[in-house]
Amino acid sequence: MDFDALGNTCVVGLQWGDEGKGKIVDLLTEHFDVVARFAGGANAGHTVQIGDAKFALHLLPSGILRPDIVNIIGPGVAVDLEILSEEIEGLRARQIEVGRNLLVSLRAHLVMPYHKKQDRLSEARRDGGTKIGTTAKGIGPCYADKMLRSTAFRVADLSRPDDFRSRMKKVVSDRNTVFAALYGDDEPLDAEAICRRWLDLADGLATHVTDTTATLQEAIAGGKRILFEGAQGCMLDIHHGTFPYVTSSVCTTGAVSAGAGVPPSAVHSCVGVVKAYTTRVGEGPFPSELDDATGEWIRERGHEYGTTTGRPRRCGWFDAFAVNYAIELNGITELVVMHLDTLSGLPEVKICTNYSFIGRNVSVFPPTDVQLRAVEPCYETLPGWEGNLSEVTSYEQLPAAARAYLDRVEELLGVPITLVSVGPDRSATLHRGGRRNAGSIGMS
Ligand code: IMP
Repeated sequence: MDFDALGNTCVVGLQWGDEGKGKIVDLLTEHFDVVARFAGGANAGHTVQIGDAKFALHLLPSGILRPDIVNIIGPGVAVDLEILSEEIEGLRARQIEVGRNLLVSLRAHLVMPYHKKQDRLSEARRDGGTKIGTTAKGIGPCYADKMLRSTAFRVADLSRPDDFRSRMKKVVSDRNTVFAALYGDDEPLDAEAICRRWLDLADGLATHVTDTTATLQEAIAGGKRILFEGAQGCMLDIHHGTFPYVTSSVCTTGAVSAGAGVPPSAVHSCVGVVKAYTTRVGEGPFPSELDDATGEWIRERGHEYGTTTGRPRRCGWFDAFAVNYAIELNGITELVVMHLDTLSGLPEVKICTNYSFIGRNVSVFPPTDVQLRAVEPCYETLPGWEGNLSEVTSYEQLPAAARAYLDRVEELLGVPITLVSVGPDRSATLHRGGRRNAGSIGMS
C-alpha cells in the first residue's frame, strides 16, 4: 500500500461487519492527522492490539491510541454518552490520555435509555423468522427518532438544560405509555433521573463537544490528511445490504460525505477490508455459511465471537460474488485481506464465485432476502496450507498455496490486494508485492 499516494481515505468493511477495520485504521493512522467516524454507534466493535495489550473500541475512533491524532465522532454517528464516557475512563485507567484529541459533533444524535429498551422489547416480541438479531444498543430506535425529528435529541440539545428537560419529560412519558400498552412493560423509565444523568455526562464531556464539521473544513483547507473510519460492513447497509437484516445506518462510502460533513470530492481513496472467509452475526441470509464442523473450526480458530455482544459469529467461505457487489457500490481502490492465518491447517479452501438459481448463474446480487435465501453458492476449491502464518514477516514467505489463494481472490475481485493481515498485532501485517512489513511502520 502506497501510504503517500492515498490522500484522504475511507476504510470500509465489504462483508457483514467485523472484518478487522479497527486494526487497519490503527495501522494507517501514522500517516494521517485526523480520524473521523461518520456512521453507526456503539453497535460497532473495533479491536486494536498493540503487543499484548488489546483494546476494544465501540464509539471511540481507532486513532485514539495515538495522542497526536485528532479523533472525530461526526454528525452521522449515534452517540451513547454513557458508553462513550466508560470507554474514555477505560482508556485513562490504562494510562492512555483522552483530551483534545477527541472531538464530538454537536450535531450527532443521542442514544437514550428508551432506545435501548425499545430495541430489546421489540426484538423479544418478534418471532424467530422476523428477528433481526440486533446488538440491543438502541441504534435502530435512535435513527428512527432522528428521521422523525420532533422526538430526537442531539448533543447540542444538552447545552440548553431547561429545554432538554421539558422535551425529555414528554418523550419519556409517551414512550412509557407505548411500552406498557404494546409490550406489557411495568417498569416505567424516570425522565428526571435520565435528565440528571445525561446533563452530568454532558458536563464531563463538554471539552470534547464542538462543531466537528467546521473542524474538518479547516483540516481540509489546511491540507491535513483525513482517514474516515467506517463501521459495520456493506452487507449491513440500510440501503444496499441484506434488508431487513441490516443495521440502521449507511455503512458504504457514500455515507462519508453526509455523515462526516465533507464534500465527496474530499475523499480520494476507498480501502475495502475483507476477511479471508466470511462471518455474520445476527439473523439473515448468508449463502456461503458453513453450518458444519469446518464452520465451527473457523469460529474457534478465528475467535469469532462478537466484540460488542459476545455472540458466536456464523462462519462461511469467502464470498467473492457478494464482495464484488460491495466493491462496485463502494468504489474500492484497494483491498486489505484479514485473518489469512485463521485458514491455515485446512486441507482445502473454497471460494464462492457465483450464485445459481434453478441451475443458472445469477447476474446481479439478489436485492431481496427471499431471493438471497433461494440461491445456491457455486464454489471453486483450492489446496489449503499449513503453518503458523503469524510468524511470517514478508509476503514472499507465505506458503505458495496461501499466495495462490490470494491471487485467485484478487483475480475474481479485480482490485489489488495491497495488505494482508496474519495476526492481531500491528506487526502481523504483510505488504503484498515484496515490500516491507507494515508492522515496522505501525510500531511507533
Ligand atoms: P443493530 O445495528 O444493533 O441494529 O443490529 C442490526 C444487525 O447488524 C444485526 O444483525 C447485528 O448483529 C449487526 N451488526 C451491527 N453492528 C455490527 C458490527 O459492528 N459488526 C457485525 N455486525 C453488526
